[in-house]
Amino acid sequence: MTDVKADPHRLRNIRKPTPKRHQSTIARPHGLAHGRLVVCHQGDDVIDDNFSHVTETFSHDLRLYQSLQSEVALRPQGDIMTKNIERKVVVITGASSGLGESTARHLATRGATMVLGARRKDRLDLIAKDIRANGGDALAVEVDATKRTQVENLAKAAIDTYGKIDVWVNNAGIMPIAPLAQLRVDEWDRMIDLNIKGVLYGIAAALPYMLKENGGHIINIASVFGIKVFAPGGTVYCATKAAVRSLTEGLRMEFHANKIRTTIISPGAVNSELKESTSDEASSKAVDQLYKAWAIPADSIARAIAYAIEQPSDVDINEIVVRPTVQDF
Ligand SMILES: NC(=O)c1ccc[n+]([C@@H]2O[C@H](COP(=O)([O-])OP(=O)(O)OC[C@H]3O[C@@H](n4cnc5c(N)ncnc54)[C@H](OP(=O)(O)O)[C@@H]3O)[C@@H](O)[C@H]2O)c1
Repeated sequence: MTDVKADPHRLRNIRKPTPKRHQSTIARPHGLAHGRLVVCHQGDDVIDDNFSHVTETFSHDLRLYQSLQSEVALRPQGDIMTKNIERKVVVITGASSGLGESTARHLATRGATMVLGARRKDRLDLIAKDIRANGGDALAVEVDATKRTQVENLAKAAIDTYGKIDVWVNNAGIMPIAPLAQLRVDEWDRMIDLNIKGVLYGIAAALPYMLKENGGHIINIASVFGIKVFAPGGTVYCATKAAVRSLTEGLRMEFHANKIRTTIISPGAVNSELKESTSDEASSKAVDQLYKAWAIPADSIARAIAYAIEQPSDVDINEIVVRPTVQDF
């Protein structure tokens, strides 16, 4: 048992007392007893000696739980999480649509300063304008992430304008699906250039600043297809996303001592323009059907990214896999 007043962050482990639980003879203590807030961890075998007392004082406990929740415990924790996004400078590639746009808008509402990179500057300008109109701050920078110097310029623009880079999100990517047998080598090249080399250029651009600051956070958008291969059709795309996973883990191993956090985000099917990068007609139809049946909104991924960023700096969320509930692989 833990006294929550002594350690407010433990509140996340507290079970709210409910009448149903209290009627159970095997229920374990999970709320308030003896006028004191206690924590019993899920799965613990500890049984409170005075459990019957909890039942008797249920109403009192519930009121106390609710008042402590609002007055003492949850607020400090919420503040910590919010502050870990507020005023952070977040650079994101591929911010002109889909996951990147949604993440930029979401993080801006949480107080982050956004530096948006992509090729379609007109779209970036509109998003940045929107963010500013809603009280946020955003800078739009035209960048082709397959060009190293342009990615370096993106980092420089963030530093020149805001003086720092706290988080760098390598999000830009394409997914032209086609069986290997079609030998669409140009598309293989384009995927490798953006999905792998673009991520490396992003890492190379962000690292020097983060090393100088002895801290930072690099978030790389991989895919469920980096975990499982789907073929025929997705072989090269899957390979590029598997590479992103390996790169991110290697980055973590090399730079954790420099307090650089790394996160792999592996989404399943998400509504965006991604499927439009497939030029093979049969593959395009198949992908379309799959997305119609499964795809979830892009803000599902924005929230996952925010979750990784908002953790205290000594906590590194290394990987998050987000699938539509109905997706089978
Ligand atoms: N949607 C999904 O189901 C899904 C699932 C797993 C992983 N992902 C990954 O999520 C990431 C974002 O994709 P999305 O689904 O949001 O697709 P999207 O809507 O097509 O967005 C892709 C973004 O990348 C940018 N981009 C493309 N080529 C670029 C280049 N050469 N330089 C700079 N930016 C470039 C695009 O902007 P411009 O065209 O303006 O440059 C766009 O902003 C990708 O890495 C993708 O592989 C998506």
